[in-house]
Amino acid sequence: MKRTFLIAGNWKMNAGPTEASALSKEIASLWKDKSFSSEALICPPFVSISSVVSGFEGSDFKTGAQNVSNEDNGAFTGEISTEMLKDSGCEYVIVGHSERREYYNEDDELVALKAKKVVDSGLKVIICVGEILSDRKAGRAEKVVKDQLNTALNQLDGDLSDQVVIAYEPVWAIGTGETATPDQAQEMHKFIRSLLSNHFGTEVAEKIRILYGGSMKPDNAEELLSQKDVDGGLIGGASLKADSFSRILAIAESI
Ligand code: PGA
Repeated sequence: MKRTFLIAGNWKMNAGPTEASALSKEIASLWKDKSFSSEALICPPFVSISSVVSGFEGSDFKTGAQNVSNEDNGAFTGEISTEMLKDSGCEYVIVGHSERREYYNEDDELVALKAKKVVDSGLKVIICVGEILSDRKAGRAEKVVKDQLNTALNQLDGDLSDQVVIAYEPVWAIGTGETATPDQAQEMHKFIRSLLSNHFGTEVAEKIRILYGGSMKPDNAEELLSQKDVDGGLIGGASLKADSFSRILAIAESI
């Protein structure tokens, strides 16, 4: 079955409102008068979300967030709710990025609660999973990914193929210039689809997109995106330049 590619940029803690406005307009202008059949998305920092939503106005590009609270509006200083994200024009929310897990102690249970909160709010969630290098070297990569994913899936039920996206991001490949080989990516994506199938059934699992993340760039996007179970990319560094993000989208369009 053919799944629609999702090309998602994660700007991390880069691009405040002024820069985000310029960069999103530049991305949209590269596709002016050209349509694309993939879905394309940028996740800027919270304070830049409205700038990106405005910058993308009149284009097919969408806006997402990099994180969200698992709580509803209330006394949670410094947090941002799903309701606020919807109000800002976001359509997607990333949860469980490895940098959140590593630097902000987000564990599988919290990530699962966030994923549920996003889905319940009607937004779409990108759930990140991935092993660190020592896990891979010790042959534990699948076990780690399975535990991360199943904890999140336990909170989710029904045909959520429209609302749930998984991103496989081997932590050793993030921001390092190291990429998983296409075979390594395909092998893990296939394993992730089997876990999705165990939980949701095959029909739903076949519709859920699984993104690869970790040093994806124009030079390696084609071989990664050509893998059977790779349905798009979660792109950090290469999404901070309009040209490289746009080239990855063009590659997805050509496959
Ligand atoms: P990278 O980041 O493309 O810079 O490796 C990917 C990510 O962390 O989402």
